Amino acid sequence: MKIWMLKLLAVLVLAAAGAAAQTPTQTPPAGDAAAGKKLFVSLGCWTCHGYEGQGGAGPRIAPRPLPRAAFTTYVRRPSERMPNYPERLVSDAELGHIHAYLQSRPMPPPIASIPLLQP
Ligand code: HEC
Repeated sequence: MKIWMLKLLAVLVLAAAGAAAQTPTQTPPAGDAAAGKKLFVSLGCWTCHGYEGQGGAGPRIAPRPLPRAAFTTYVRRPSERMPNYPERLVSDAELGHIHAYLQSRPMPPPIASIPLLQP
C-alpha cells in the first residue's frame, strides 16, 4: 500500500470518529426534581394525581411514570378525561423536571408491612 493511501485512510477514519462524536444525542437532558415539584404543584397535577403522584381522581404516576417521551406525549394529548397541557403552558424541558420529580418519589411500603391490610 502506498503511503498516500495510508494517509487518506487515516483521515477518513478520524473524520468518521469525529462525526460519530458530534452526532447530537437523542436523550434529553436529565430533569431537575426540585423544579419539577414546584411545577407539579403550580400546574395543578397534584389535584388529580396527589402531591406524591400516588393517585386520586387520576391514576398513580410515581415513582414509575411512563418513559419520558411517552409521558410528554400523554400530557400533550391525553386519551380520556385528563385536561391537555399544550407547549404554551408547560415546555418539554419542564415536563422533564416533573418526570424527574415523580421518579424521585419513594416506593410505597409493601402491603405485607401494613397491619390493617392483613387478613
Ligand atoms: C383534572 C384532573 C387531572 C389533572 C389536573 C392532571 N391529570 Fe393526569 N390524568 C388524569 C386522569 C383521569 C388520567 C387517566 C387517563 C385519562 O383520563 O386521560 C390521567 C393520566 C395521566 C398520565 C398517564 C398515566 C399512565 O401512566 O398511564 C400521565 C403521565 C399524567 N396523567 C400526567 C399528568 C401531569 C404531569 C399533570 C400536570 C401537568 C396532570 N397529569 C394533570 C387526571 C388529571
